[in-house]
Amino acid sequence: MSHASSQPLTLVAAGPLTGRVTVPGDKSISHRSLMLSALAVGESRVEGLLEGEDVLATAAAMRAMGADIARGEDGAWTIHGVGVGGLLQPANALDMGNSGTSTRLLMGLVASHPITATFVGDASLSKRPMGRVIEPLMSMGADVNASPGGRLPLMLRGLCPAVPITYTLPVASAQVKSAILLAGLNTPGITRVIEPIATRDHSERMLAGFGATLTVEPSPEGRVISLHGEAELRPQQIVVPGDPSSAAFWLVAASIVPGSDVTVENVGLNPTRTGLIAALRLMGADIEELDARTVGGEPVADLRVRHAPLSAIEVPPELAPSMIDEYPALFVAAAFAQGRTVARGAHELRVKESDRIAAMKAALEACGVVCEEYEDGLAVQGSGGEPIAGGATIETHLDHRIAMSMAVAGLHARKAVTIGDASPIATSYPGFVGVAISLGAEVVG
Ligand code: S3P
Repeated sequence: MSHASSQPLTLVAAGPLTGRVTVPGDKSISHRSLMLSALAVGESRVEGLLEGEDVLATAAAMRAMGADIARGEDGAWTIHGVGVGGLLQPANALDMGNSGTSTRLLMGLVASHPITATFVGDASLSKRPMGRVIEPLMSMGADVNASPGGRLPLMLRGLCPAVPITYTLPVASAQVKSAILLAGLNTPGITRVIEPIATRDHSERMLAGFGATLTVEPSPEGRVISLHGEAELRPQQIVVPGDPSSAAFWLVAASIVPGSDVTVENVGLNPTRTGLIAALRLMGADIEELDARTVGGEPVADLRVRHAPLSAIEVPPELAPSMIDEYPALFVAAAFAQGRTVARGAHELRVKESDRIAAMKAALEACGVVCEEYEDGLAVQGSGGEPIAGGATIETHLDHRIAMSMAVAGLHARKAVTIGDASPIATSYPGFVGVAISLGAEVVG
C-alpha cells in the first residue's frame, strides 16, 4: 500500500470532452458498508463497492479482526460478520495506508471491544491529527498510546464495557462523529453526538438500515444523534451509489473545456455531499440532473454537464461541510472563471491528505494562476475561460485529490501539466485515467 516510486502523468485534451461515464462507488459509503456488514451476524452483500486502496485497507483490517470478506466473480462482495462485540484481536498492526476514514472509524470500533490494535499508515496519514478521535474515545474508556502530536503510529486498547458519552463535536467532522457512534454500538446505554454543523450522514443512514436504534433530532445546539448501544445488526444487501467526490473532476473538466458535453451516470446526491454542484451552479455551470432515483437509501441521478462560461464567486462558507473534499476541484474551476473567486471558512483543508490550501496554491501558481492564501482558504484569479499557462510539474504530496484536480486543470492549458506522482489516485479512483481517455483526453510522454 506504500507508493515506493513516483508515477508521473501528463493528460492533455486536443478538443472537447464528450461521452457518458460512470464513477466508482462512494468511498464513505463503501467503508461503512464493510464495517457494519462485519458487525452483523450472517451474510451481507455489497454491490458497487469502491475497490480503491483506502477501502481495501478497511477490508483487510476487518478481516484481521475476524470478518470473512470475499469478492465474487460478478464483482459483488460478500461479508460474513462476527456480530457487535465479536471483533477479534488482530495479530499484526493494521496498515491504514493513506486512509484517514479507515483509521478514525476503526479506532471507534476497537475502542469498545476488549482488544488492542496498532494503527500505522503512510507518510501523509502519519502527519494527520488523531487527537480529535483519541479524546472522545478515551472518555469512553479506551487507552491510547500515540506518536507525538496525537499521530500514527498509535496503539489503542479498547474497554468492554465502554462508557456511553454525550459529545459535542468541536470540529465539523463526519469521521469523528462516526468514530464515536461506532464505539457506541458495543457500549451499554445511549451514546450521543451533537453536531453544531451538519456533516455527511452516511453513518446514521446505514446504522438505521442495519437495524440499530438511532434517532436524529434538532436542538438549539445542533443535530443530536442518539444511538442505543449493544445493538444487534442484521445483514443487508447494499448497492453503493457513485461517488460525487469522484464525479467532481468530470463536472469541472466539462465546465472548463470548450465544447464539452459529458454525462456522469449514477452519482450520489445526498444533500450533505452536493456543495460543489451548488457552488458550480452559482458560478454559472450548466449541470442538469436526469433520472433522479434512490439507490441503497441514497438519492442518485445522472448529471449532464456542458461547457459554460464561469463567473467568480465568494464561495458561501456554509457550503464547506458538504464540499469539503471538493475544494481542490473548485479551485481549478475558479482558475478558469471571470474574476477572482474567494473561498474562506475551510480551515479543515489544512489537515486533509495534504495541506490542500498550500498544495493547491503552489500547484496553480506553478501553472501561472495568481492565488492568495488565507489561513482558512484561498482566492484564485480566473482566466476568464482562456487556457491557463501550464507547463509545470505538480507536487501532489501523496494526495489523490491534488493529483486529479491538477490533471483536470491541464486539460485546458497552453503547455502540458505533468502530475509528478499520480500513484495516489489509486486510493480513491483507480479508473480515473481510463475515463479521461474515454472522454477524449490523451496521455502524453
Ligand atoms: C469522510 C469525512 C470527511 C472527508 C473524508 C471522508 C467520511 O472527513 O473529508 O474524505 O467518510 O466520514 P472529516 O470528517 O475529517 O471532515
